[in-house]
Amino acid sequence: MSKVVDRVTRSLWRGITTGCAAAAGIVLPGAGFRVCLCPNHTVPPWLKDMPHSMTDEALPELPLGALDKLDTGDDLTFYAPPRLVTHIDESATAALAGFYRSVLPAGGCLIDLMSRWVSHLPPEQAYAGVVGHGMNATELAANPRLSHWFIQNLNEDPALKFDDDAFDAALCCVGVQYLQQPLSVFSEMRRIFAPGAPFIVSFSNRSFPTKAVAVWRALELRGHVALVKLYLEWSGFGHLTVDVLADGRSGDPLVAVTGRA
Ligand SMILES: C[S@@+](CC[C@H](N)C(=O)[O-])C[C@H]1O[C@@H](n2cnc3c(N)ncnc32)[C@H](O)[C@@H]1O
Repeated sequence: MSKVVDRVTRSLWRGITTGCAAAAGIVLPGAGFRVCLCPNHTVPPWLKDMPHSMTDEALPELPLGALDKLDTGDDLTFYAPPRLVTHIDESATAALAGFYRSVLPAGGCLIDLMSRWVSHLPPEQAYAGVVGHGMNATELAANPRLSHWFIQNLNEDPALKFDDDAFDAALCCVGVQYLQQPLSVFSEMRRIFAPGAPFIVSFSNRSFPTKAVAVWRALELRGHVALVKLYLEWSGFGHLTVDVLADGRSGDPLVAVTGRA
């Protein structure tokens, strides 16, 4: 799997350093460029005019070093203090709940990957079970939607201890930027999904910059969409869709990329 990641990462880096750089607003070292990290809360002009749903498009690949992070310290230590705050605003949260309402199978068995004390699920909707994964016991224990939860550092161990076909759907909200072995994790997610189950990966425009992987820091929102689609495609998900749930004009932007097992 790491060979696949390396091949993917090298190739996307090439794409970024050539054609995609201007569109993504990226400047890179080694080619007469400097790194320009995307600031929080910027709304790229293209997002306002983007159709609210689009289908798959060709993706460039990724480079070696793209999945490095600035803070190489233990992630479990970083997440040890409980942070009972929200990372997206109320209107983005409401939009996400509405999207979940339309896509997640009522009564299904769900997994909330990279969860905390909120899952953003529609409050009136019942599910057979919601398994939460995260990094902090206090946060996960405070999440009223979780029927079970577990802690696992996916950058150390991406293998998920569930049977094949165990889940009907999955969510991963504002966490994908921290994954250093995304294809291993996503492939594991596909393995534990029933056929056709949706994996909804959503993200906004902020992160803990020292913990986000290099390629995420180098890209803006459009590049993040391409990157997440690449993760899904390369780990075998199909029927990819992109939904702009909040365009960022009056609050946090929020995009959901969904793939089906
Ligand atoms: C910004 S929070 C998002 C939490 C939640 N999904 C939400 O919507 O509020 C990012 C989460 O990513 C998860 N995370 C970060 N690094 C991780 C790692 N190395 N392994 C597993 N999960 C990690 C943690 O659970 C962390 O709380």
